[in-house]
Amino acid sequence: MEIIVAKNYREMSIIAADLAIKQLKRKKTSVLGLATGNTPIGFYHEILKVYHRGDISFKSVKTFNLDEFAGLDDTDRGSLFYYMRKHLFDKAADLQPKNINMLDGRAKNLRAECHRFEQAIKSAGGIDWQLLGIGANGHIGWNEPGTSFKSRTHLLNLTIKSRRAQAENFKSIKDVPKQGLTMGIGTIMEAKQLVLLADGKEKASIVREALRGRVRQRVPATVLQRHPNLVVVLDEAAASSL
Ligand code: PGA
Repeated sequence: MEIIVAKNYREMSIIAADLAIKQLKRKKTSVLGLATGNTPIGFYHEILKVYHRGDISFKSVKTFNLDEFAGLDDTDRGSLFYYMRKHLFDKAADLQPKNINMLDGRAKNLRAECHRFEQAIKSAGGIDWQLLGIGANGHIGWNEPGTSFKSRTHLLNLTIKSRRAQAENFKSIKDVPKQGLTMGIGTIMEAKQLVLLADGKEKASIVREALRGRVRQRVPATVLQRHPNLVVVLDEAAASSL
């Protein structure tokens, strides 16, 4: 694994954007795996700057997002699709709507939707470049502690902690859906390159555990140590316990 320590959040975001830009220049038809949360907001901001300068194009790019709330779609302000529209999709004009792949939280049969998503990733030739954040409990995507390393895209009950972490985008905690859909750990691990971002001192101990701790299902992110092409980009605070 390669670990890059940036001075601060902005530099972390620029380094992550540079990695994505390199990928897009290497392969115009790249399949990008994308993430939501507070961590990658700066990444989207930086990559859009380069896009608006005309240095990269999304015309032939396909995207797959890690997760979505059950019951929500892009018109719900709390949905992860809404987040993606706000931070990337609505601003990257040449990204084709047909190439945007989100788990459909409103699908009638959510298990069938997870299966459809897996098939769509396969048909796209797999994910070339997958962005990841990390939860304080070590979750990646919404694979909470204990999730099998072999798991595929699935429906899950969100922990109260994960729901609280999302509450700012809803009127109250009661409005945060109780279920979500997420790529599985097995699905994530098949991406050709993984790029894990973390910033802030609240992430320092889980970053140490994920990268240096014993690999075990109780801390999902420890599985990343087994990936042959993992790049970790941290700010100094998140790297401070390594
Ligand atoms: P955050 O979430 O970027 O908002 O810290 C990360 C995650 O839970 O994966």
